[in-house]
Amino acid sequence: MTDTSVNRVQARISELRKLIEYHNHRYYVLDDPEITDPEYDQLFQELVELEEKYPQFADPDSPSRKVGGEQTSAFAPRSHTIPMYGLENSFSIEEVQAFINRIRKQHHDTEPEFWVEPKLDGLAVEVIYENKAFAAASTRGDGLVGEDISNNIRTIKNLPLKLVSTHNMPDYLEVRGEIIMRRNDFEKLNALKMEKNEKVFANPRNAAAGSVRQLNPSVTASRPLLFFAYGIGTANFKDGFRWTEQSMISHDLKQLGLPVVPQGTICADIHEIQNYYEKQLSQRQDYPFDIDGLVIKVNAISMQQHLGFTARSPRWAVAFKFPASQEFTRLKDIHIQVGRTGVLTPVALLDPVNVGGVMVARATLHNENEIRVKDLKIGDMVVVQRAGDVIPEVVRPLKEKRTGQEREFVFPEICPSCGTRVAKLKNEVAWRCVNASCPAKLEQGLIHFASKKGLDIDGLGKKWINILINKSLVKRITDVFRLKRDDLLSLDRMGEKSAENLINAISASGQNVTLDRLINALGIRHVGEQTSKVLARKYHSLDKLAQVHEQELQNIQDIGPEMASAIAEFFRNQDNIELLAELKALGVWPEQQQEHLIAAQLEGKKFLFTGGLANMTRDEAKSRVEEAGGKVVNSISRNVDYVVVGDKPGSKLQKARNLNLEIIDEQGLLNLLE
Ligand code: IVH
Repeated sequence: MTDTSVNRVQARISELRKLIEYHNHRYYVLDDPEITDPEYDQLFQELVELEEKYPQFADPDSPSRKVGGEQTSAFAPRSHTIPMYGLENSFSIEEVQAFINRIRKQHHDTEPEFWVEPKLDGLAVEVIYENKAFAAASTRGDGLVGEDISNNIRTIKNLPLKLVSTHNMPDYLEVRGEIIMRRNDFEKLNALKMEKNEKVFANPRNAAAGSVRQLNPSVTASRPLLFFAYGIGTANFKDGFRWTEQSMISHDLKQLGLPVVPQGTICADIHEIQNYYEKQLSQRQDYPFDIDGLVIKVNAISMQQHLGFTARSPRWAVAFKFPASQEFTRLKDIHIQVGRTGVLTPVALLDPVNVGGVMVARATLHNENEIRVKDLKIGDMVVVQRAGDVIPEVVRPLKEKRTGQEREFVFPEICPSCGTRVAKLKNEVAWRCVNASCPAKLEQGLIHFASKKGLDIDGLGKKWINILINKSLVKRITDVFRLKRDDLLSLDRMGEKSAENLINAISASGQNVTLDRLINALGIRHVGEQTSKVLARKYHSLDKLAQVHEQELQNIQDIGPEMASAIAEFFRNQDNIELLAELKALGVWPEQQQEHLIAAQLEGKKFLFTGGLANMTRDEAKSRVEEAGGKVVNSISRNVDYVVVGDKPGSKLQKARNLNLEIIDEQGLLNLLE
């Protein structure tokens, strides 16, 4: 390595230290972070790696040596009897496996068991009880010395000032836990601050931290804070009793009347950890507060003590983080999209940003009203979120980041596709293009019609649909079935073979489409895949469905008045009557056979999954089982009819064997479904 490149490394290390210190200050002291957690983690990781690779540049004052946090002068210092460390982060199951391997190495004779629970996204505090009574509380601070925030913490509503007497009664107890704010309380608080023209908090965690570090305890008292315990520092019992397991601590803290982190569980191995992770990740939004991952702790306290700590974190615990679900990015522009029903939907065009593992560059803004209510301006920095598999949304602008260059979005008065003046239907917030032959409406309608859940026309995707409409080869949906080979060959980049394949795919789709998929393809408002199946099963043909009275539709379970009215209206509309007549003339007119016994076969049957499936996700498997009338359960019992075992099954497999349950593999499941 040359001198100049070593110099460059040294300069980068020094730059990273300054950057991290700056962001620590913004985060811990000002409660106003400028960068996102993943961005911070990246800087931190880069520094740690460079320092490990170039030990000659080590520095005891490097921010990598600190546990995080920083002293502020406002509160009296308070030392921790046992350091309050942070956790090492892991972002993949492989990293968790590496953590387990490290433990195994030190404990060759015993297989570790783990206590696993959600990681709450808030502020760490220690609360001390002496002789059952609240005595003091402090922040984590730099891990060794925190701030005395006793007067603020004692105002937290769900924190007991007196412990309940139990048989395991410590006379001195340091409880550690997280202070958090629920998402809806956070929004209310921000709305209030906005009304008063005060600065809003960036997220619930900052709101919790900012509320705790108030010089005036009555301000803290007015904030909707909650405390959840996850562990202990020092605990002394008169009779010399000691807790021997983390699970026991969680259980006993609850007995003492303390709110503990919910949903903790014991996991025997990595598979159980993975299953629990997936379950928690999918239920993440069901919690009223933010959880940003799991914390995995060695359950046996003796093992914890033996493993001890590194300079920064315990060797016996690790955080298994969820992908971040909120990020900041810039709202570059707002684009109007015309849907198949003619609704004009504003769409946010964003600087692409990775949200929870998925790149997000667009997000719907729903309607004109939404833009006004959220007070979004083009050029704003905005918070974007994605929850589970849900579509991304723009949460709010960061008004404090405005420069004055942002501009108001003006909603168009004419359809951007055909130029027709837009209109609002009675009681609706949406603007619509009312031109029946608007090309944008046709395009979206045809995309839906040809999609997998509709006619499923292989090879007819967005790209070709756009070209066919632009070249006027398709002026209405049914024109697709009239396309000739030569029409297609006139298009750029359409070869003989592709043209032939497409013509065949179109014709096959018309003949093979099932009634439920054709109903879905029509794009009746409010009618999706599920309702289409219900209607197909009940009426067996479009002729019959078209005749059904609105009142009768309403009597069907799962069909409400709005849906019933939309269905009836669809079949009354002259354009639709013509469309249906043409489909019939073209032979695109399936009749549904009476239901077979398939549904009945799996009706009421209970399925339990363990391990990963090779050809479908858990969600897919679940919905297929449910479509066939079965049910998917999560806990094992004698009532389970089938245990579906995939790759790397968890301990449920052994339990299933013990209970003598029917065990099948993925192929077995497919056979049942067929
Ligand atoms: S256990 C020795 N359990 O995450 C550290 N921590 O990044 C043991 N946190 O400082 C911590 N939920 O403030 C633990 N269920 C949980 C937690 C949790 C949130 C916080 C805690 C800690 C930080 C580490």
